[in-house]
Amino acid sequence: MNDSLAPRAPALKPDDIAPRVLAWWDVHRRELPWRARAGEKPDPYRVWLSEILLQQTTAAAAAPYFLKFAGKWPRVEALAEAPLEEIMGAFAGLGYYSRARNLHACAQEVARRGGRFPQTEAELRALPGLGAYTAAAVAAIAFDAKAAPVDGNIARILSRLYAVEAPIGSARRQIAEAAALLTPADRAGDYAQALMDIGATICRPRNPDCPACPLQEGCAALALGEPAAFPRKNAVKAKPIRLGAAFFARRADGAILARRRPPKGLLGSTLELPGGPWRVGEPAPGVEDAPFPAAWRQAPGLVEQVFTHFTLRLTLYVAEVGGAPQQFEGAIWVALEDAASAGFSSVMLKALAHAGRFADVGKG
Ligand code: ADE
Repeated sequence: MNDSLAPRAPALKPDDIAPRVLAWWDVHRRELPWRARAGEKPDPYRVWLSEILLQQTTAAAAAPYFLKFAGKWPRVEALAEAPLEEIMGAFAGLGYYSRARNLHACAQEVARRGGRFPQTEAELRALPGLGAYTAAAVAAIAFDAKAAPVDGNIARILSRLYAVEAPIGSARRQIAEAAALLTPADRAGDYAQALMDIGATICRPRNPDCPACPLQEGCAALALGEPAAFPRKNAVKAKPIRLGAAFFARRADGAILARRRPPKGLLGSTLELPGGPWRVGEPAPGVEDAPFPAAWRQAPGLVEQVFTHFTLRLTLYVAEVGGAPQQFEGAIWVALEDAASAGFSSVMLKALAHAGRFADVGKG
């Protein structure tokens, strides 16, 4: 954990956390179809199956799938013997089929081992389809190993508990260390499931129900008065700025010179004003990018358009012309009043409006 967290972390010491979480769970635990009842030994097959079905989804969404799978294939050997297509069919709607394939491969591997799942996190991690989270969850829940699964819900709880300033993506190690530190030697599986329940029902992404939380005295984010402001979001990455020049050539009859962009790529097949390439970095392209010589006048200001991966700033030049010279290929003359429906992109419609205003002013 980061030292700078210590002064912010209020009343609870690390050893106080698990007893509170477990005491809360003994009263408030969710009844879920894959869970062993209090005092009952969990069935590793059901624990594993549930964790695979719960990947990327909620308990409510996974529950009917779990009931279907556990009903059809009550033991790992039965699942191992099932035709893959049947498993795929039962999986439909749950997302990636690679997970169904791994589910089958894992069942076959465990069946080869006499139907017994390995018990350590490291051995579980080596089975098909088990990542770090799933291996830790199965080790803790099925075998009560002192393992600390960290999924999105648990990461959120810990990032609030310690008011972690770094967004979750850059604080993974810090959060994993906190998770390991707080995990009790006893009842690690109950503790993991309790955190899952707290994450789903109390420490929700928005509107956390802090008064109901067994960790409220220990929560640094709550002490700061802004629990929902954690985990911190990733800063929005600044987009590069590309600069370009576009040329508004107008004929005596009012028609504007346009050309069509290539069919593939950005703004494919749309109409545009001619101009040079859009470049990152100064100097801004200028009249040297003109498609042909004319009495080009620079319009004041810029036209800006934000694209997914960059922001474009266009300088506009206007000129009254008799026609396009021979060497300008692919000229399309568009009456300005038809421009809206002619197939220009929105950045080019902005450019036409901007240049058109200036051209008219320039004419007096
Ligand atoms: N989400 C992932 N695993 C879970 C579990 N075992 N119980 C409840 N929610 C979960």
